[in-house]
Amino acid sequence: MNRKEFIKTCGFACLGVSTLGLLMQNCTSSKMITAQIMDDSLIVPLSNFEVSKENEKTFRKYIVVQNEKLQYPIYVCRFSETEYTALYMRCTHQGAELTAYGDKMVCSAHGSEFDNRGNVTNSPADKPLKSFPVTIENQNLKISLKAL
Ligand code: FES
Repeated sequence: MNRKEFIKTCGFACLGVSTLGLLMQNCTSSKMITAQIMDDSLIVPLSNFEVSKENEKTFRKYIVVQNEKLQYPIYVCRFSETEYTALYMRCTHQGAELTAYGDKMVCSAHGSEFDNRGNVTNSPADKPLKSFPVTIENQNLKISLKAL
């Protein structure tokens, strides 16, 4: 193996390892659920954020929520025990569905990116994501869909 082949092989190996790490991080921290809609609100049990590992309770940073009545899923991010955001996963550029990657959402159509508060972090999109009011009732998040 000459020097050029060696560098090429190492480059692909490093790319594979870093991609695998990103995928594994997403697998452990993400979750997709189907939630019920009651009275114009999506009801999401808070237990969906809990992860139990060897007597230790931790929390997922976000979950993706869907319902057959929703055209796009909703990204629900947990900032603290009492602070959550609910964002419509519809790109504000031309309406493609976004993909969640940890703290951000990415549009595969033209590369727009949004942070976990719905702000644009990479164009061509120039408007923030639609967000929904979130309240906590009886160990459930109640996401108001009246703005849809
Ligand atoms: S539709 Fe998302 S970047 Fe164009």
